Amino acid sequence: MNNEIVLHDLTFVPYISSKKLDEHVKNVAQKINEAYKNQAVVLVPILNGSFLFAADLVRYLTVPCEVEFVKVQSYEGTESTGTVRELIGLKEEHIRKKIILVEDIVDTGNTLTQLKTQLINAGAEHVVCASLLFKPNAYKYSTPPEFIGIEIPNHFVVGYGLDYDGLGRNLPDLYVLKPNS
Ligand code: XMP
Ligand code: MG
Repeated sequence: MNNEIVLHDLTFVPYISSKKLDEHVKNVAQKINEAYKNQAVVLVPILNGSFLFAADLVRYLTVPCEVEFVKVQSYEGTESTGTVRELIGLKEEHIRKKIILVEDIVDTGNTLTQLKTQLINAGAEHVVCASLLFKPNAYKYSTPPEFIGIEIPNHFVVGYGLDYDGLGRNLPDLYVLKPNS
């Protein structure tokens, strides 16, 4: 089929169109606008995956907002801590504000949970998450992200910021791994 795409060794098929994605982005923005009204927030998009979602989301926001992109540095901790994830790039002044972490996708929730804990330990009083995609069947914690665009099954997806080994972030639509590929 000619709308399949190949990234490295894997084949992906169209999953969610850019038009549909835009509706979900708008929906997340509306929920944030209603929840915060005139309260100032700082959006903290987690690079690299969330760069497109964040860029589209902020244009639908009417609340007073700052935007501060961060990176996550991951390294292997002890056997009991497993992979340790640390936020790089957040300034002290932002920790005191209402923080909305912006994620492209929340899967097991390990990344989000570690980052939230880290921010709270650093003195943050308000940390929530807006994620475009959420895999409820993979999620290991009791509290899901506060603002979710779309729930999807445990499929590997690329496009709209998400990558397979560095490729696919530029695709306007979301693609899913072709079954049995
Ligand atoms: P956890 O499990 O910590 O994972 O919630 C979050 C991170 O895992 C990556 N991830 C994906 N990346 N397609 C991707 O391109 C996917 O289907 C997918 N599922 C998880 C992503 O980096 C995310 O921030
Ligand atoms: Mg990510």
